[in-house]
Amino acid sequence: MTLKVGLIGCGHIGTFHARNIKDIQQHGLVDIEYHAVCDRFIERAEQFAAIADCPLVTEDPEDVIAACDAVYVCTETAEHPYLVTAAAAAGRHVFCEKPLARSLAEAETMAAAVRDAGVTHQVGLVLHYSPVYRALAAEMTRAGPVLAAHLRDDQCFPVGGHYGSTWRGDVARAGGGTLLEHSIHDVDLLRRLFGEIDTVHCRTREVSGHPGIEDVAVVTFQHAGGAVSSLTSVWHDVPSRQSSRHLEVFCSRARFDTHQDYFGSLTIETGEDPPRTLSSDEVLARFMAEESLHARDEDLRRLGGLSDRRFLEAAAAGKPARPDFEDALAAHRIVDACYRSAAEDRPVPL
Ligand SMILES: NC(=O)c1ccc[n+]([C@@H]2O[C@H](COP(=O)([O-])OP(=O)(O)OC[C@H]3O[C@@H](n4cnc5c(N)ncnc54)[C@H](O)[C@@H]3O)[C@@H](O)[C@H]2O)c1
Repeated sequence: MTLKVGLIGCGHIGTFHARNIKDIQQHGLVDIEYHAVCDRFIERAEQFAAIADCPLVTEDPEDVIAACDAVYVCTETAEHPYLVTAAAAAGRHVFCEKPLARSLAEAETMAAAVRDAGVTHQVGLVLHYSPVYRALAAEMTRAGPVLAAHLRDDQCFPVGGHYGSTWRGDVARAGGGTLLEHSIHDVDLLRRLFGEIDTVHCRTREVSGHPGIEDVAVVTFQHAGGAVSSLTSVWHDVPSRQSSRHLEVFCSRARFDTHQDYFGSLTIETGEDPPRTLSSDEVLARFMAEESLHARDEDLRRLGGLSDRRFLEAAAAGKPARPDFEDALAAHRIVDACYRSAAEDRPVPL
């Protein structure tokens, strides 16, 4: 049966998903109909509908939930909880953007709602589909125990820059700053790469004058297996600078380094001279083999949309998807502990 798909929130990330959904429908990658779009500014929804030829255009999310089998929640964060719980209560499969919510308590309620409803659920922690981090994870299995790792993540304060977002400067709408709004991706990544996190020690700063919106977060994570990782997450005011990540990992028998967070190369130093670099093409070839993708999928935009394809495949089959709300909840628990650590200026166990 054709899966009817609806999207709520026709903004920045909604554009990304809308393109992917349209592409998946057009190329018959999953049996879907891109049926409905919604935004509280109707002209935005109308623009989306015109591009994708969606029959249902509305300002009311309830119309989308009533008419569709799977619902994308791509609004600002404060709106996620009621939309997700309404969609789950109606038995709809749900894709929700990260962070799930402004607080851990809200995220727990949302995770319980999709769990109880028995629907397919996925969250926009898109680094799960990063080819370069997949290659790193595979290489690390041959490198001995992880000793330490450092991730630097910097982005232009998104109230300006290419986001031009107003709500990200308002704690009532965003819930937090660089750590929750952006680096929840990093927390999830570090947990997946280096194992469960036992203890966090975090410092934050608010420099740009938005109360409750930290623009600096520096965290040390103690992982259950003994590894220590650290994160420096910064929102700066350098509009010329692209969002960027740099990850360096020391294992007992290798050092890894990458300046890319999705498509890109990975440098591996194991004592060979000179260090080996897996090119972005090699990284991509490995990823495609792992995901059982074929040459026709090698359009980079389509690969960028793989997480949507995987969600829609799972929803159509009534199966679980990844990363799911439980993955998101684990990341929310860690972020919540980081904020408590920063407020109380002490390490916080999980
Ligand atoms: N996965 C990622 O890498 C990634 C990247 C960017 C944003 N995000 C997340 O996606 C969400 C949206 O971010 P954005 O940058 O697209 O924001 P945005 O402001 O560009 O777009 C949000 C849209 O939702 C609409 N909207 C808000 N509340 C609504 C409601 N109740 N009903 C209908 N429409 C509503 C707004 O009018 C706007 O058009 C946020 O939670 C953000 O953290 C994730």
